[in-house]
Amino acid sequence: MTASGATNGAATNGSGQAGSAGTRSLSIRGLTKEYRRGTPVLKGITLDVAGQGITAIIGPSGTGKSTLIRCINRLVEPTEGEIWFQGIDLARLRGKALREARRRIGMVFQEYNLVERLSVMENLLCGRLGYVSPVRAWLRRFAQADIDRAFELLDIVGLKGFAGQRADALSGGQRQRVGIARAVMQRPDLLLADEPTSSLDPKTSVEIMELMADLTARNDIPVVLNIHNVELAKRFAVRIVGMAGGHVVFDGPPGDLRDEHLKQIYGGEGWLE
Ligand SMILES: Nc1ncnc2c1ncn2[C@@H]1O[C@H](COP(=O)(O)OP(=O)(O)O)[C@@H](O)[C@H]1O
Ligand SMILES: [Mg+2]
Repeated sequence: MTASGATNGAATNGSGQAGSAGTRSLSIRGLTKEYRRGTPVLKGITLDVAGQGITAIIGPSGTGKSTLIRCINRLVEPTEGEIWFQGIDLARLRGKALREARRRIGMVFQEYNLVERLSVMENLLCGRLGYVSPVRAWLRRFAQADIDRAFELLDIVGLKGFAGQRADALSGGQRQRVGIARAVMQRPDLLLADEPTSSLDPKTSVEIMELMADLTARNDIPVVLNIHNVELAKRFAVRIVGMAGGHVVFDGPPGDLRDEHLKQIYGGEGWLE
């Protein structure tokens, strides 16, 4: 019943598949997604993510950034391809095995996905992939170790003293801090975020990115996030993945991202001057 009871080590079965060497590595192979048959949104994405630091996926609206993130935790069903994580192909998992794999992947949402009428503490203790069971919250059956961890995380994300506040009493930035703490609560081996700053003002956006960067270092896990703000991506990511037309068209450190790449990613001429 408790999140902290889950062990991560046992899940690594060492299948020896491509890219599964590190326990935390994510290895996407030929990922395709068609919402409508014959019109792929993702056209064979191949990507490896390992280690620590933020990998920022940039690209124009509608290019499939959210689809990519959501295929990884299977909020979206991949059409073709493999998603290796800790020796398991996530793309093929079903039922209990899928739920167990998801437990090791934290997710942060643009719109926070908190249960507004529950307290910050309840959101932390019941949340997983944005899904909260109100029944469980109502029963208040939580292990002391989880409660201790939740308090510790609230401190880390800058919300000391907010445990008893209802989510709907918080600002956007505070809500996102709860969303991030909730994702980290499950001790994930990988943290995903879909436009975590898009609903926030510029200053709060910087603070949230600082927090994400701090957490990837502190927990020694990679963060993969979508972000449409290129400046924020360059400032906080160790790696930029540029998507256009369902393909990866740039993959490298922020310092290598030139105007010609941005033109290739976002298209057109003249807007960079
Ligand atoms: N659930 C869905 N059903 C059908 N089409 C979808 C669905 N989700 C996204 N799409 C389409 O897939 C494309 C990529 O969307 P999305 O992954 O949200 O892009 P991005 O996050 O880069 O803006 C868009 O054309 C969008 O309309
Ligand atoms: Mg999106």
